[in-house]
Parts: sequence; C-alpha cells; structure tokens
Amino acid sequence: MLYLAIESSCDETAVAVVSSPRGKDEFTVLSNEIASQIDIHKRFGGVVPEIASRAHIEAISPLTYKALSDAGVTMTDIDCVAVTTEPGLIGALLVGVNFAKSLAFSNGKPLIGVNHIKGHVAANYINGRIEAPFIAFVASGGHTSIIRADSLTDFTTVGRTLDDAVGEAFDKIGRRMGLEYPCGAEMDRLASEGDPDAFAMPAVHMKDGSFNFSLSGLKTHVINMLNTAEMKGETVDIRDVCASVTRVICESVVYQLERCLKKYGIKTLLAAGGVLANSHLRLALETMCEKRGVTLHIPPVGLCGDNGVMIAAAAKYEFESGGRSDMTLDGRPSSKDDWKRV
Ligand code: KG4
Ligand code: ZN
Repeated sequence: MLYLAIESSCDETAVAVVSSPRGKDEFTVLSNEIASQIDIHKRFGGVVPEIASRAHIEAISPLTYKALSDAGVTMTDIDCVAVTTEPGLIGALLVGVNFAKSLAFSNGKPLIGVNHIKGHVAANYINGRIEAPFIAFVASGGHTSIIRADSLTDFTTVGRTLDDAVGEAFDKIGRRMGLEYPCGAEMDRLASEGDPDAFAMPAVHMKDGSFNFSLSGLKTHVINMLNTAEMKGETVDIRDVCASVTRVICESVVYQLERCLKKYGIKTLLAAGGVLANSHLRLALETMCEKRGVTLHIPPVGLCGDNGVMIAAAAKYEFESGGRSDMTLDGRPSSKDDWKRV
C-alpha cells in the first residue's frame, strides 16, 4: 500500500509518500518533503494565521509534485490519500483538506482524515510493532496532551493543558528574552549551559489530582521576573532562566506521566511532538522509564516536528481498521467530539 500524506495544520506544509504492506507493521519512507514557514513568521514573533494559509497555498502543489517524483511514483501508484483535518489553524488546515479531497476525487483514491495529535504519536509506529495499551504524551507548539491508547487508533485524552502548550511557553518566554521564533531549540541549547537551580519556578502540573497542566503561570512568572530585573537595572543570565524553566517543565511532565502510568498499570510510553526534540526532556523521560521498567518510544528528532510521514503512519492503521473519509471531510480547529475525554 502506498500512502500519500499531507500536513498543513500550522506553519509547515509537509507531504510524504510512505509504503506499508497491509497487515504488517513495516514502513518504507519514499519521500518526506517539508516546506517550513519559519522564516516568514519569524519577524512577527509567532505564526500569523492568514499568512500561514497563503504560504500553504503556494507550497502545496509543487511540494506534492516533488514528493511524488522523489518517491519515483505518480498518482496512479498511490493507494490512499491522507490528510490532517484537526486540530490546528482552520485556514491552514482547509488548504490541505481541500487539496487532498481534490486529489483523491480526481484520481479515484480512498481518502483518510487524520487527527494531528494521533499523527504525532504515530511517528513512533514506523520503527516496528507497538503493543497497546500505552500512554502517549504529545507536546508541541499548540498541544499538550496525555492520552490513554487502547489500540493504535482508539485514543482517550486523560490530561491536557488548560492554557498554554509547552512549546508555546518556550516560545513566549524565549521571545521576552529576545530569542528568535520558534525559541524551543535555542532554549534547549542555552539550558545546557545554565544552572537549573538558579531560579525557583512554579510547577506546571495541576495539583488537583488530574493529569492536566497549566503553563500560563510559569510564563507570567518569568516575564515578571525579567521585567523587574530590567527596571532595577540588574542583569539576568538567560542561560540560567532557560535551565530553570526546562527543569520545572521536565519535573512536572515526569511527575504527571509517572502517576498516569501507575494509575493505569501501563508499561509502555510513547512521547511525540515538536517539544520532544528537547534533549533535557528526552533524558528525563528515559531516566524515569528506566527506573519504572517502562518501555519508552520517542521519534528521532527529525520526526518530532510536523511532517507527512507521521500522518501516513496514522492513516495506515485507520485505513486497515476500516476508517474512510468522504467528500464531506472538513477541517476543525479543535478535535472532534468523538475524541474521547475523561
Ligand atoms: O510539533 P511542532 O513542530 O508544531 C506544532 O504542532 O505546534 O512543534 C513546534 C514547537 C515549537 O513551540 C518549538 O519551539 C518547539 O516545538 N520545539 C522545542 C524544541 N524544538 C522545537 N521545544 C523545546 N526544545 C526543543 N529542542
Ligand atoms: Zn504538530
């Protein structure tokens, strides 16, 4: 089976061609094209939705053509068209959804709509069989979720952020320190040179027994701290700020995941999303999982951010379990109601 998968939920247009035999947990990535809009949005300090939609429109046709030609195939060879439908920026999503619908309709191919968060988790599927049930943790610029998965397609959200996503917190704190958008990777590097105990920071997990997070307090605390220092004419070493912010985020994420794995008696953890490129978080999760005898899967750094390969991997299991979308397929800014929550 050859999957053509399209992702356009935020500021990356991505198209991949992935081959996977039906009924087997094997994947061959034939092409993986990503057109990043970071250079366009950088000067605004964040993603401008209208500009993102326009940039997707410009990129999507040539990128799809390139993905097909790099894979050495044509639309005739493709068996299924997959596309991210939710959650994300609605204008951006609609570019991918309408393009995928036209492609599927005009070539007579089946169409599969994929949830972006399920897509991030599925970046872990391409390295071989994953046994459910498992707990998944997704952290990106727009999402922070803890999920209980009873199969590779049956997900229930058990925890989420109540305000800012982890990546958003990195980006907003980084912007106040004068770093370029997106700030996560640079803060990761600076944190390695700083003292993680230099500043006390508020925890980012909810203390109500839930598996939820809240990061707006941390963001406000750091911004106030920097404003106060500026007013007093004091200098703050931003490496120490990065290290302290990273420490508290890692501690809270580990705390919630450890409790969650224990509550459900689950011994497999899948982590994914742009923030999982963070070297400190990867190490913190590895240490916790080793201690608890939990098997940890994290995608290679190149597949943590938005890409088409993860959408193809999620689509494969949806397709094989009978999922099909039709020409009424639509984009949604948030996950569908049947995206269960407890
Ligand atoms: O998954 P992604 O590419 O896009 C969304 O779905 O949002 O995630 C992008 C986010 C940005 O907030 C970026 O700052 C963050 O991932 N990020 C990182 C690192 N690399 C990217 N955050 C922390 N450490 C990193 N090394
Ligand atoms: Zn994403």
